[in-house]
Amino acid sequence: MADVLERARRSAPVRDAREALEPLLDELMRSLGFERAAVLLYDDDRAALAGGFGVGVPDAIVRELVIPFALPDDPIVAVLRGGLAARIRDATTDERISPATREILARASLGPVVAAPLRSTTDLRATGQDGKSGAATPGWEHHGQWAGVVLLSRAAGVTQSDVDALVPFARQAEEALSLQRDVEVLRETSEAHAIEKEWLWWMVNGVGDAVLVTDSNNDMVLQNRRAELLFRASDEDSAGKRRAVWMNNFLFTAALSTWNLERAGATTSREVTLVDPIEGDELIYEVITTPATNFRVGMRGTVSVLKNVTDIRHIGEELARGRQRLQSAEEEIRIERDRLDLVLRNVPNPIIVVDNDNHIMSMNPAAERLFKPASATARASHTALANDARFTSFLAGLRLDPAMSKRGEIALADPRSDDRLEMEVSATEIRDARGAVMAIVSVMQDIGRLRELERRRLEQVLFDSEKLAATGRLAASIAHEINNPLEAVQNALYLLQKELGAEANNRQYLDIASRETQRMSRILRQMLGFYRQQEAMAETDLNALVEEAGGLVAKRLRERGVQIANQLDPVLPRIRASADQLKQVLLNLLLNAADSMPKGGTITVATQAGAGAETEVFGRDAVQIQVRDTGAGIPDELIAQIFEPFFSTKPGKGTGLGLWVSQGIVQSHGGTMRVRSRVGRGTTFMITLPVQGPQSDVRAV
Ligand SMILES: Nc1ncnc2c1ncn2[C@@H]1O[C@H](COP(=O)(O)OP(=O)(O)OP(=O)(O)O)[C@@H](O)[C@H]1O
Ligand SMILES: [Mg+2]
Repeated sequence: MADVLERARRSAPVRDAREALEPLLDELMRSLGFERAAVLLYDDDRAALAGGFGVGVPDAIVRELVIPFALPDDPIVAVLRGGLAARIRDATTDERISPATREILARASLGPVVAAPLRSTTDLRATGQDGKSGAATPGWEHHGQWAGVVLLSRAAGVTQSDVDALVPFARQAEEALSLQRDVEVLRETSEAHAIEKEWLWWMVNGVGDAVLVTDSNNDMVLQNRRAELLFRASDEDSAGKRRAVWMNNFLFTAALSTWNLERAGATTSREVTLVDPIEGDELIYEVITTPATNFRVGMRGTVSVLKNVTDIRHIGEELARGRQRLQSAEEEIRIERDRLDLVLRNVPNPIIVVDNDNHIMSMNPAAERLFKPASATARASHTALANDARFTSFLAGLRLDPAMSKRGEIALADPRSDDRLEMEVSATEIRDARGAVMAIVSVMQDIGRLRELERRRLEQVLFDSEKLAATGRLAASIAHEINNPLEAVQNALYLLQKELGAEANNRQYLDIASRETQRMSRILRQMLGFYRQQEAMAETDLNALVEEAGGLVAKRLRERGVQIANQLDPVLPRIRASADQLKQVLLNLLLNAADSMPKGGTITVATQAGAGAETEVFGRDAVQIQVRDTGAGIPDELIAQIFEPFFSTKPGKGTGLGLWVSQGIVQSHGGTMRVRSRVGRGTTFMITLPVQGPQSDVRAV
């Protein structure tokens, strides 16, 4: 912009001077009889009087004239300095004028001349610019003081009266120049303003943000294109857009007025939510407001710049949510890890994790006691080292096994006591996503202790069996002794009942005697059934036995609304057992089950190969029989007593020997009998029997 103005400034003086002076000069020359004139103007840049234009003299020659202002003797310069017109008898020969200038004056035929000063007194600052901003364009200040000299010549020569005649001209010229200058300055100023305004327009609209100016009533005075998109609508726009624009004006004005209340006058930054007039979405704007004063009209207002921060806010919120999610995930992981840590710390089994090169990655405290004892005496650390070596070679051996999960036994020593530890190790490979082994987790179990428990249990079983066998033998011999006379009594009673008939006197006493002898014989039968010679042991098909026992009672049970459902394992191995005794056990269980279901129900008898939950006890092959009913169940407080002899909840009807005898039979086969019951739901009896029959050392006889 400065360039444009500068160019305007440079060409202005000559043009303006000619416009202002030419009519005056013409008239002057005509009235005073001058033939030629040349106008020289003071050129600030060159510090010289420079030729401007000529009348009766070609401009080209006039413009060659440059008379430095520094020449003190030059009469033309003296005219300008002194402000008084002067006569030069012959300028082409006057010694005070430089030869170069004289030569030009000669070519211009300016010999005898009258030189008159030209001055404009107009002060630019008083007209074109306001007091404040004028300082920003210092070059303009000289414009107000135009100065120059006009040379008027007549071939016939000039006189003092010519000089006097020029006095009014000088004043007239001054006025003309000033007037012209004023017009010119105004023109230039408004031109410069227009140019400046053009640039300002580009500047304001080039901004990507909405910019607007509001007055002290918060009414919008000016807005740039961006702001217009938000705040201005015409009648051609859709109703939606007009509503949005109305909303925006309302929201923004409301926001401005609330902010104004608190504002301290400085630049502030707030947020306001507006509506996108095109899309209808919510837009969040950061509003930077700056108070402004228009000195020209003395009004206060506000400049607001609205930055669209919707995306930034959304990204920010998304980031915050992401961080929140990460934090809670991290927290969960930490809790999970702590929990896992707690579990590992408290598991009594030693657990060791090794990497693919068998380097220990981590171990729990139980494992540390074996491999890294805290109180490491020389002896203890030696034992620990030996453990480590054994475990490593054990793992190396396991690696040859292709299975993912492997089991094996290893003998270690307790570093504290040097006690021998028989450990069963379950090693499981942990693989990464590509199937490569990352680690092996080994869990150890002290099976030495388990074996010891099992040994003690077997001792107890043996002891119990022997006691049982002794009791059994005694009971059986008593039963045998009583059985024969009892049969004789029963026969006698039978004959008597027949002979006396149903109506006989005191017949009821006979019936009581008969019933009680029957009961006695039932007891004896149970006892005798229990004590059978072990010679009766043979390969027995349990499934067939189950069906046979069921068949024996099926009719009786059906009458009571009880069904039997068998679930028999088709590949059940035959076992060595006494078929008669086991049949008695099954019958006892079936009848008990039926008794528990007075309103009917279902008895399920299932057979299964394997020892089930009792694998620990039956290291060898075993089979299982389950008898389940849907009956009344057994209360917890009675469970402990049901296997006792003569315990019965069926007064007058039960002997209370059924379960006692049955358990005795099962134990004499080397098996176990357990019960599980829930009142109101039903009862399950579980019998586990070894396939090989009783071991010789626990044989009951
Ligand atoms: N399946 C069962 N459901 C509910 N209670 C049972 C069941 N089996 C046994 N009992 C309870 O155990 C007690 C003892 O049973 P046990 O077979 O030894 O004698 P009993 O059945 O009473 O008499 P007996 O067998 O001589 O007829 C029963 O009286 C009964 O209370
Ligand atoms: Mg019974």
